Amino acid sequence: MSKTRVLTGITTSGTPHLGNYVGAIRPAIAASRVAQTESFYFLADYHSLIKAQDPARTQRSTLEIAAAWLACGLEPDKVWFYRQSDIPEIPELTWLLTCVAGKGILNRAHAYKAAVDKNRAEGEDDDAGISAGLFMYPVLMAADILLFNAHRVPVGRDQVQHIEMARNFGQRFNHIYGHEHFVLPEAVVDDNVATLPGLDGRKMSKSYDNTIPLFAPRAELKKLIAGILTDSRAPGEPKDTEGSALFQLYQAFATHEQTAAFALAFSEGIAWGDAKQRLFECIDAEVSPLREKYEALMARPGEIEAILRDGAARLRAACAAPALLRLREAVGLRDLSQVAVAGDAGKAKKGSDAALPMFKQYRDADGKFYFKLVQGERVLLQSAGFDSPRDAGVRIAAIKHGTLDADQPDFVLGEGVHSDEVNAALEAFVAAQLEGSKQP
Ligand code: TRP
Repeated sequence: MSKTRVLTGITTSGTPHLGNYVGAIRPAIAASRVAQTESFYFLADYHSLIKAQDPARTQRSTLEIAAAWLACGLEPDKVWFYRQSDIPEIPELTWLLTCVAGKGILNRAHAYKAAVDKNRAEGEDDDAGISAGLFMYPVLMAADILLFNAHRVPVGRDQVQHIEMARNFGQRFNHIYGHEHFVLPEAVVDDNVATLPGLDGRKMSKSYDNTIPLFAPRAELKKLIAGILTDSRAPGEPKDTEGSALFQLYQAFATHEQTAAFALAFSEGIAWGDAKQRLFECIDAEVSPLREKYEALMARPGEIEAILRDGAARLRAACAAPALLRLREAVGLRDLSQVAVAGDAGKAKKGSDAALPMFKQYRDADGKFYFKLVQGERVLLQSAGFDSPRDAGVRIAAIKHGTLDADQPDFVLGEGVHSDEVNAALEAFVAAQLEGSKQP
């Protein structure tokens, strides 16, 4: 059974705060441990350039956010963890999608429209100060998602429109190029995840300047918590949990029992100073082991760089590069030497209708591992010997996901077989697999 692919993009701006942790990092890492999902987490650093244009801060923020996710338990050998700008296939696909994306749809994007409305309100030209990057943001985001055929994309409400657009662009592409090239993604909005209040009681957000950094040192954490806005009730006076930022923060980190006990303390008139001390201890208990890991990681940025590069390299080989090969082929950016001669093309088509091609793996007398691609009785492709079944499997996966690269020396075509025929067979194979993966 094929796994559900869940993909999350993390914009690399700012320093991670408790709101990011409770609202995004913690639930996403928990979700990555669910069986039958294949998780993709990436640092959306191209996206961040649309707003942040201070190179040193962009670099710093990327490092901090990568370190935060790793410190919080993301396992880079179990999930795909990578940096958007390490995958050149993303901007390449962005262009292919740009050419099918309706400009009228982009005109309606909330972020772009808000910027235009603001200009109008201020009597400016509609597009004053608006970059093409802001306008194209949804196309880049669609490429992030469609490249990996993600099924589900957990996002906040503000991002749902972007997922709708990704579906729209993917569908248009599928329609124009006559094939299920892309899975159409679903937005997943989790209403159970708490939005954390900030120091002033409004939603914790960088734009309100009311955040508590996730990895603030203990003394700073304590000081910030002491500054949380409360009412002026004296010690001994009963206090409301309803609408109390302090209480909501506590709840996000405490067990049910602890929360119940805290509510009782409120009704019994706990002093705000004591309540803050309890909140501090509760948050620190969860964060302090993570903070240690974070600090260790931040002291070795080279390791984070290596983890990200490794993730991107593996993902490119396994998915991105083969996908772009297929997509380039689909739109006609093709190898000119492979132009089908009329007779050959006809033959290939007939072949692909006849029987689905299959890969067969076996070990030969020389102890090496081989595979062949067969269609009915015909051998379309014969591999050379591999040292391990895994090596052979990897090669098969690459062939399945891509088109045939006739320059690869590790297999030969079957007798009298033309590479166009193999490509057609592979296309049928991939189409059949896509068809299969759509079944629930
Ligand atoms: N736009 C998203 C945000 O601001 C970040 C993002 C970029 C993203 N590419 C994505 C999210 C792809 C999900 C999928 O939160």
